[in-house]
Amino acid sequence: MARDPLLVCDDVHVAYPPRRRGGKPARAVDGIDLEISKGEIVALVGESGCGKTTFARAILGLQEVSAGSIVFDGKSFPATADDRKSFHRRAQIVFQDPTASLNPRHSVYEIVAEGLRIHGLSDNEHEVVTRALERCGLHPADRYLSKYPHELSGGQRQRVVIAGAMVLEPKLLVADEPVSSLDASVRGEILGLLQTLAREQEMAVLVVTHDLGLAWNIADRIAVMYLGRIVEIGATEELLARPKHPYTQALLSVVLEHLGMVQQILVGEMPDPTAIPSGCRFHQRCPLLQSGEAKKLGIDSRCTAEDPVLRSDNDGSSVACHATESPTRVAC
Ligand SMILES: Nc1ncnc2c1ncn2[C@@H]1O[C@H](COP(=O)(O)OP(=O)(O)OP(=O)(O)O)[C@@H](O)[C@H]1O
Ligand SMILES: [Mg+2]
Repeated sequence: MARDPLLVCDDVHVAYPPRRRGGKPARAVDGIDLEISKGEIVALVGESGCGKTTFARAILGLQEVSAGSIVFDGKSFPATADDRKSFHRRAQIVFQDPTASLNPRHSVYEIVAEGLRIHGLSDNEHEVVTRALERCGLHPADRYLSKYPHELSGGQRQRVVIAGAMVLEPKLLVADEPVSSLDASVRGEILGLLQTLAREQEMAVLVVTHDLGLAWNIADRIAVMYLGRIVEIGATEELLARPKHPYTQALLSVVLEHLGMVQQILVGEMPDPTAIPSGCRFHQRCPLLQSGEAKKLGIDSRCTAEDPVLRSDNDGSSVACHATESPTRVAC
């Protein structure tokens, strides 16, 4: 459990309506429990289509939640328009592609000042905008204020996007694949900036990524998501040193292949969220079942019939896997 939690998500579900008549709803987020503390960086990791963006949007009130609860800074999700406005000031999002996020006809100054104007915070506007840009590594700010997005590099554009969020002094920043559209050479700088801002402002950050290697560099904790659910969560170093869920182990084997770890290729594709398998949602692709280890442990029938819950371990991590409940199971 997170200390001093800023955000508490309890059994959050998001289901998209069927795309065709007679179809089934897509259970894109299917029961997520997650707490994030002030000043903490949590990475939400998982392959494409597992529901990361849907969950991120749900946290920010940009996507309707079909069940469960979200408590932010001690309050349930805002019901009135005024509360929602104040919530949107304190919880900001940064998207993957800074070019798409920035209005090409607005100068850097106008872009960063926009949030202040929307929220009626125009006192000392010039000073506040300047400070936000410099805090985000664009200094001296005067050099950037009158520039337009096309005059900036990709990394500088993402810094402007982040400055536009930071100007409102948010308590929570959600960054959805914040560096995947950037050159490899500037990715580290932007991640370093997010880390610095989290520490200095005591801001909670949820970084959404499909890249476990990226999570490794930045996060205090990593949450591994599979088909709408968190299947493992724990402190970064612990989770990477001793991954417990077979899905985490497979993801990690890809990242560590260059260190001599044998890459585990998962069979098949992640199922569609309109047809989540019964039992453990990962069972059709699980190496433990395929190798016969689950049978040896006597859990194979549970894997196909019983949905494992996310269970806390003594080391503060949590895992949803029947094998980790087995006393004879040795972590890979
Ligand atoms: N508006 C929608 N209507 C129906 N299904 C949707 C809608 N938006 C997303 N989905 C489905 O919900 C699931 C989760 O999508 P989401 O975009 O949240 O995944 P993601 O983990 O962010 O993927 P990526 O890594 O590719 O960005 C996918 O199966 C997707 O096809
Ligand atoms: Mg996404």
